[in-house]
Amino acid sequence: MNEIRRAAQLLARGRFAVALTGAGISVESGIPDFRSENGLWSRYEPMEYGHISSFRTNPGKVWKMLLEMDALLGAARPNPAHVALAELENRALLKVVITQNVDSLHQKAGSRGVIEFHGHGRTLRCDGCGDRVSRESLRLTAEPPLCGCGNALRPEFVFFGEQIPREAYVGAVEAARSCDVMLIIGTSAAVAPASHLPFLAKKAGASIIVIDPQDIEIPSACIDLHIAQSAGTALPAMIRALDEQDTG
Ligand code: APR
Repeated sequence: MNEIRRAAQLLARGRFAVALTGAGISVESGIPDFRSENGLWSRYEPMEYGHISSFRTNPGKVWKMLLEMDALLGAARPNPAHVALAELENRALLKVVITQNVDSLHQKAGSRGVIEFHGHGRTLRCDGCGDRVSRESLRLTAEPPLCGCGNALRPEFVFFGEQIPREAYVGAVEAARSCDVMLIIGTSAAVAPASHLPFLAKKAGASIIVIDPQDIEIPSACIDLHIAQSAGTALPAMIRALDEQDTG
């Protein structure tokens, strides 16, 4: 049986499937990932631009990268991979998407069960007084926007050096421990604690299906099926395979 049909069969037989997604699922929406050849970290040193201490000591410098990300996020639309995951949820074949992405594209594609493990870009927050403003209410300039209290506002992304939002962490661990299928889509699995989730799922007896043209940092012994295709190709093909299985 080919790998797409095998993945569709595992989903159809599953009782509780979850998806763990990363930047790769949004590459076909025009947002570069982080660690591929032309990824964001090939242009910005992650610990120099992606760490919360860098933002606190030099917000103007980090803002240059954040402004570039904001333009990419603003222009991006869901691609067929995001739409396919929303369709799997509509068919009650997928319970929740745990995403490391901050682009809100899963929600825009119609997914309702979304856990944003690394935050989002819909609001900005002041770490001085806690005030929040919506991204839409701001016209961004070359300088970071300031809060009324004088501190620089920062997006609600989780920077390196910051905790995962508690509710997202607890929900994601619970989902990983409860699932019997985990789709790992477009993530190198290079960053903890998100990279621990596949191991929790495996320990719970889940089938681990990777969708990524490249190998990722999960040992192959832990992976039941690796579909080395882009997400925008593989996921719609899985929906078609499910339809074929239904019409039997
Ligand atoms: N379809 C599927 N996978 C793809 C595609 C695609 N079209 N394009 C790229 N990929 C894969 C790459 O091969 C790679 O394995 O997506 C993965 C992207 O990995 P990273 O760039 O490391 O992104 P991600 O795993 O999301 O990074 C995790 O690191 O920098 C932090 O907070 C940031 O959330 C991010 C976290």
